[in-house]
Amino acid sequence: MNTFVTVVLAAGKGTRMRSALPKVLHPLAGSPLLSHVLKTAEAIPSTTSFASLEGLVSSHRPIVVLGHEAEQVQAVFGERCRYAIQEELLGTGHAVLAARAAVQELDPLPDTVLVCYGDTPLVRSEVLASVLAEHYARRATITFLTAYTEEPSDFGRVVRDDSGRVMEIVEMKRATEEQKRIKEVNSGVYCFDREWLWPVLQVLPRNPAGEYYLTDLVGVASREGREIATVAGTLDETIGVNNRVQLAEAERILRLRVLERHMYGGVTVVDPATTYIDDEVQIGCDTVILPGTMITGKTIIGSGCRIGPGSVIDRSEIGERCTVRNSVVEEAALEDGVTVGPFSHCRPGARLGRNVRMGNFAEVKNSTIGAETDMHHFSYIGDSTVGEGVNIGAGTITSNYNGLTKQKYHTTIGDGAFIGCDTVLVPPVTVGEHAMTGASAVVNRDVPPNTLVVGVPARVLRELPPSESSPQESNEKE
Ligand code: UD1
Ligand code: CA
Repeated sequence: MNTFVTVVLAAGKGTRMRSALPKVLHPLAGSPLLSHVLKTAEAIPSTTSFASLEGLVSSHRPIVVLGHEAEQVQAVFGERCRYAIQEELLGTGHAVLAARAAVQELDPLPDTVLVCYGDTPLVRSEVLASVLAEHYARRATITFLTAYTEEPSDFGRVVRDDSGRVMEIVEMKRATEEQKRIKEVNSGVYCFDREWLWPVLQVLPRNPAGEYYLTDLVGVASREGREIATVAGTLDETIGVNNRVQLAEAERILRLRVLERHMYGGVTVVDPATTYIDDEVQIGCDTVILPGTMITGKTIIGSGCRIGPGSVIDRSEIGERCTVRNSVVEEAALEDGVTVGPFSHCRPGARLGRNVRMGNFAEVKNSTIGAETDMHHFSYIGDSTVGEGVNIGAGTITSNYNGLTKQKYHTTIGDGAFIGCDTVLVPPVTVGEHAMTGASAVVNRDVPPNTLVVGVPARVLRELPPSESSPQESNEKE
């Protein structure tokens, strides 16, 4: 039985990001850079290349090498990985050596150490698995991923001899003019034979820049006449995020990947160029995403919906056949058949029941709205429980905040109630089932069921016979 462990290097300061936030915590498609690398590493066992490797098991969580911002990163990822601390930042070779104790503690002890960089978020699981597969097939000492590019910029160059044997990796800073023209570059994913790795790292000399470069191990192995294998990957997987220009480039590539995944899964994305969907979003088939829409966080959208144009959905749950047009829905839940917008806002804690119709310029916060309720125009419902089949007339406001006591109060509206245009509900207050408020009423006392109240402050005008308690509406209803 063979085992491997993944070591992710993430101790670097990320100086080129010019940021107070550690580089690996910068968000990419809604999740921190490092989480993309971890997700990729965690998914190795479910790839086809891995399945073809007989006798290889993966039982270890990745080990992440962190530097002085360790606490901040650990707070985000917790038990998801193991950690090793690189006390001084002396280069990528030094960083791998910092993980030695954490690797040697593992049971079973891995024979292979797969190293990748926390700032290389686009590499795919299938590619990591194919580097492992090549490593085992060739019984290599080192196997690493390369890519070809016309613009090798600051990547390390892969130097081969005339017969194509790998000789070394030369970092851009130390490359000769001729080496700078090499178009095969180091992607920063390596498999090392563990037994060979530690002693060599311990005696690796510092390079003239004062650092221990992991890449120098390739030259060492080559001079020892050891087997060095390479796997050719694509450049877009290899992109390293060193600055914010590269962050935006990675975002562009990942965004397209996410959109393609949804499109292949049966979602119509009318204009991929103006649609932004985070990596963790789930969308049902036959949903149409219209231009200018952002769907972020752990959002789940059912099938047959129309989202957009111009909508923002964040950390929300949307059922089937919903419409959200030119509106914002954040930390909210819409049950099946709900329509929102144009120009409305569901704020945190809004829960709209089946077939609720929320029209234009409406806002709901921390409230449950019962099924089949209508609130078509210009209203605000906050900290409320609204029953089923209620009509919220245009301009209805819950004045839920008491400025003197600095407290929020609750409004309850019973099933089938009819709230007339411009009603102000002053909580704590309850409007009974099938009750009705007249236009411009200011309701500061409970309204019994089947009762009509009017005026400022609202007073009971009369009881409503059952025939009147589902009244014609005074404001327009589509
Ligand atoms: C590195 C490679 C280069 C390759 C490129 C691919 C080396 C010497 N060079 O260059 O050949 O083409 O990646 O993207 O490895 N880190 C530590 N501790 C340290 C230094 C770095 O943990 O002391 C981490 C960083 O946080 C980063 C990763 O190692 O995640 C790579 O370091 P970075 O400085 O970004 O290397 P590159 O210059 O990109
Ligand atoms: Ca880098």
